[in-house]
Amino acid sequence: MKSNKKVSWAEPYKMKMVELLKMTTRQQRVKAIKEAGYNTFLLKSEDVYIDLLTDSGTSAMSDRQWSGMFMGDEAYAGSRNYYNLERAIQKYYGYKYIIPTHQGRGAENILSKVLIKKGDIIPGNMYFTTTRLHQELAGGKFEDIIIDAAHDPENEFPFKGNVDISKLDALVKKHGAAKIPYVSIATNVNMAGGQPISMGNLKELRAYCKKHKIRIIHDMTRVAENAYFIQQREKGYEKKTIKEIVFEICSLTDGATMSAKKDALVNIGGFLAINEWDAFEKARNMVVVYEGLHTYGGLAGRDMEAIAIGIEESVDDHHQRARVGQVEYLGNKMMEFGIPIVKPIGGHGIFVNAKAFLPHLTQDEFPAQTLAAEIYVESGVRTMERGIVSAGRKPNGQNYYPKLELVRFTIPRRVYTQAHMDVIAESTAMVYERRNKIKGMKMVYEPQYLRFFQARFEKL
Ligand code: F0G
Repeated sequence: MKSNKKVSWAEPYKMKMVELLKMTTRQQRVKAIKEAGYNTFLLKSEDVYIDLLTDSGTSAMSDRQWSGMFMGDEAYAGSRNYYNLERAIQKYYGYKYIIPTHQGRGAENILSKVLIKKGDIIPGNMYFTTTRLHQELAGGKFEDIIIDAAHDPENEFPFKGNVDISKLDALVKKHGAAKIPYVSIATNVNMAGGQPISMGNLKELRAYCKKHKIRIIHDMTRVAENAYFIQQREKGYEKKTIKEIVFEICSLTDGATMSAKKDALVNIGGFLAINEWDAFEKARNMVVVYEGLHTYGGLAGRDMEAIAIGIEESVDDHHQRARVGQVEYLGNKMMEFGIPIVKPIGGHGIFVNAKAFLPHLTQDEFPAQTLAAEIYVESGVRTMERGIVSAGRKPNGQNYYPKLELVRFTIPRRVYTQAHMDVIAESTAMVYERRNKIKGMKMVYEPQYLRFFQARFEKL
């Protein structure tokens, strides 16, 4: 059944169990964030009221998934659940060969080691933290080929995840196609604010890559959300189901890495999928070194079963409409308060433009990090920095200075209510009212890799 657009979105499920939350005072929160070095990653979850740190591993599983957990076949080799997962991936995504991994970055590690040689170039539609790091650790260099609009929070282009083929062509001319093992394409680009790539653009990219014999590897972490936007926005796709669109997207690529912790509605898990036998064979050889046997890759049998069921639930039209509908509800509410957010509203969260929110801070004073800390103090809502701290340093030690300096309000799937969304928007509006009085921060501890997870700050 197709969704009826005249009626509001609402959840296609009801609640069967709830988790009680601890309510804190402002005084307790001031103390907690100071102890956490003003880094929301270092807060204790029990001190958080509404947790929007990430949509990764934080979804609520369905009763069907929980039942699947009881059907775990915990054999070391050849678990029944592995074959169920393989079937689900082949049926809904169409990839040929699969390897389970403990989560997305496990797949990125193996893929990068298998396909990248020292000195290779990996073009992609905006970087993702772990993806780029694995490319660099394997000796490659990431090059951003996303359209310029993606770096502009105000630009309302409906497909800000699109590739600028002329940027790719310039790289091919400069380095030669042989230096490019694959183009790394994310669906619903996380760092751009959950922005989709269009089918038209992907088809064009496919034609270009075919001509130059370059693979396309798909970061399919949020592919179903991307499919929803294609259904809503792209001509010719209005009548197609999410299932059909997801399958078509995957068919235009040669392999994928997946963090099942997002779209696929589980708390842990991921996989590597590839259509080429040779690359699969190498990867299958390597997974036993880093993850586990190729039929469990770091997961319990029960986890693989929950992923197989979650994949099926994720491609349901009603599910995606409610999922993205809730995110849009929050975004619209924030805009009513005048809060500057990335537009169009993305799929997995609201990205507040910290540069516009705190224009009196320089990027070296960490506007997004500062704002995330202030939002926590205001209301116990935990968000995340997606700006200069997340961007980290180049291999030569210099800071990356990303154009986007954002605070991400990531919405877990099937977890919070519309009333929670109201509280989030209202408390962010309260911080917005006192924005002129907010001072920046300095970094006092910086880890070597993925610094945003563990860095510590002090107020200026
Ligand atoms: N690719 C994308 C686009 C992601 O968003 C993530 C994780 C990964 C790969 C890595 O997967 O965490 O399972 O190892 N993103 C999380 C986030 C951490 O909060 O955005 P993982």
